[in-house]
Amino acid sequence: MGKGVFITFEGIDGVGKTTQLNILCKQLQKLGYTVVKTREPGGTWLGRQIRQILLAPTDQAISQQAEILLYAADRAQHVQEIVKPALAAGKIVVCDRYVDSSIAYQGYGLGWDVEAIVQINQKAIDGLMPHLTLCLDNEPELTLTRTKGDRIEQRDIAYYQRVRQGYQEIAQQYSERFKIISAQGSIEEVSQRVWKIIQERGLV
Ligand code: TMP
Repeated sequence: MGKGVFITFEGIDGVGKTTQLNILCKQLQKLGYTVVKTREPGGTWLGRQIRQILLAPTDQAISQQAEILLYAADRAQHVQEIVKPALAAGKIVVCDRYVDSSIAYQGYGLGWDVEAIVQINQKAIDGLMPHLTLCLDNEPELTLTRTKGDRIEQRDIAYYQRVRQGYQEIAQQYSERFKIISAQGSIEEVSQRVWKIIQERGLV
């Protein structure tokens, strides 16, 4: 790992993760840090093509295997092209989703063996795990009313309940790195919870 700081955001669709990520990036920039704000899928040119394939609503079948590998391909390019160079340059990288999304969505959500998802992603992450992951949490019944219905978001509430449960399991297993934050309340209340954890962890 480089000398920078790697922070990721996770959570089910519509939970307000991107709003909170934007607020955190602004706070860090105000303090004078150089921040690289990025996302998966879609943080690179290749990733934007893959994102379009993965998320465009379609009648065409995309097998679960292909879905897993496409997310991993996006990640492989992103880690090499964006995340690792930024960390090596001492920057703070704030990334909207990372490998935990594959564990939660493809592992727990689709019912794949989590170990298999981890194995497939090993080459993609190339040894790089975040210093801190902030996972926003709320009821899928509430968050999904805010989504636009892309190919993944067309999955049912039961799918999202499994994804949410997956995040809970990850939090138990990696309690040092992976923090669940309630997304209930105002945007400001949630951003204060996020900032408190950043400070507690002494990352900035
Ligand atoms: P976004 O809307 O938060 O940008 O995420 C894109 C969608 O892709 C979202 O529904 C979550 C899903 N996703 C996975 O299923 N697996 C993954 O590994 C990643 C990164 C995202």
